[in-house]
Amino acid sequence: MPLVTSTQMFKDALEGHYAIGAFNANNMEIIQGIVAAAEHERCPVILQVSEKSRIYTNPVYVLKLVEAAVETSNIDICLHLDDGPDYDTCVACIDSGFTSVMIDGSRLPYADNVKLTKQVVTYAHDHGVVVEGGLGDIHGDTDSDIPFSLTNPEQAADFVQATGVDSLAVAIGTCYGPYKFKTEPTLAFERLKDLTTYLNYLPLVLHGASSVPKEFVDLNNQYGAAIERAQGVPEDLLRDASRMGICKINIETDLNLVMTACIRQFFVEHPESYDPHEYLGPGRRAIRSMVIHKMRHVLGCSKRI
Ligand code: 13P
Repeated sequence: MPLVTSTQMFKDALEGHYAIGAFNANNMEIIQGIVAAAEHERCPVILQVSEKSRIYTNPVYVLKLVEAAVETSNIDICLHLDDGPDYDTCVACIDSGFTSVMIDGSRLPYADNVKLTKQVVTYAHDHGVVVEGGLGDIHGDTDSDIPFSLTNPEQAADFVQATGVDSLAVAIGTCYGPYKFKTEPTLAFERLKDLTTYLNYLPLVLHGASSVPKEFVDLNNQYGAAIERAQGVPEDLLRDASRMGICKINIETDLNLVMTACIRQFFVEHPESYDPHEYLGPGRRAIRSMVIHKMRHVLGCSKRI
């Protein structure tokens, strides 16, 4: 089965009131854990790669790892550039076989974001690739005292019209990493409702959507980490968002937390070991379990193919 775009995935997700998981594919074991879960749950999946990770791994290796996942599984897989920083990176990914790219102009002045995004859309659509744009404070920053700037629905409608994007990452109160809220976690559901209406059910994307499970923060800390006051997006809020037009939910921090916790635990319990097959295997199994849980209980996307 070849790589697919996210077009049909999002159409089905909107109709079925669920979301597709977009998991950051940071190494081979993580990819294998995600894809094993998706196969088990009969569920389409997005493997996404940031530019930092693509360069770290090497663009050819990334592609070959994902090709191996496609060849050895029988589910729909979309390969997506996460947080595309510029036009040239998007073009490089499109030319090498990615089926979806994000161009993240959300930190640029509005007119520059429109111009850049439109340029990427033109190239991508000519090559059969779909594009996610970004508008508002989609990365968030809990260290700053300035409140998040949520995506403005009228501006979003103008943006979609002007650029022709296939999906839009919106800011409704999340941020990247394990420290998402200083107080009670909330999402701006009224704003999400308005965005869905103004954008006429265009597929919407939620970045910064890890739940930062206490179980894995505690496991890291039990085996030597110092991750204090971590707070993710509660699972029930994500499930509600996925019923309200959020079609793609981005998850990276949770995968990293699980993999790292398992490695830490393994080394403390097996100080004699030095074999990567031994110390990476438990993380791969734990990622599979976590992704199955998310597909069933958070994204609502199990048993869809
Ligand atoms: P988390 O840090 O919440 O996993 O979000 C990752 C993300 O949005 C990548 O685009």
